[in-house]
Amino acid sequence: MHTISYSDHKAEIGYGIEKGEEGKGYVSESLQLVVAEMKRLGFNKVVINCDRNNVRSIQVAERNGFQREGLLLQDCIEYGRFRDSVIFGKILR
Ligand SMILES: CC(C)(COP(=O)(O)OP(=O)(O)OC[C@H]1O[C@@H](n2cnc3c(N)ncnc32)[C@H](O)[C@@H]1OP(=O)(O)O)[C@@H](O)C(=O)NCCC(=O)NCCS
Repeated sequence: MHTISYSDHKAEIGYGIEKGEEGKGYVSESLQLVVAEMKRLGFNKVVINCDRNNVRSIQVAERNGFQREGLLLQDCIEYGRFRDSVIFGKILR
């Protein structure tokens, strides 16, 4: 969890796993556990922000029931280049 806004009852989740452990469902399982804990703590919304070209990351959000909310053009700089971001959200309450 990062970019937590207590006033908005909202936070972002980021994920990553070692190459050798990809494709086993571990990230999805972990994501579900963190989302359940956020719900228990009273958060209203979870956000996932993915590079628009990061297919595996986008699939994690989709696989776990997040809704695609939009595309942010040139949202941030990564590796010295502007990056477009796909925003996914899930309402918990
Ligand atoms: C993005 C990333 C975290 C995705 O990891 P992942 O292992 O593909 O994600 P999941 O845990 O959802 O695993 C899904 C895969 O496991 C398989 N799987 C096996 N058992 C499963 C289960 N019980 N539940 C869900 N998926 C399962 C799925 O079929 C799927 O396989 P596929 O990719 O061959 O279609 C990983 O690629 C990564 O660390 N990338 C580098 C860092 C990064 O880009 N992070 C995102 C920044 S926004």
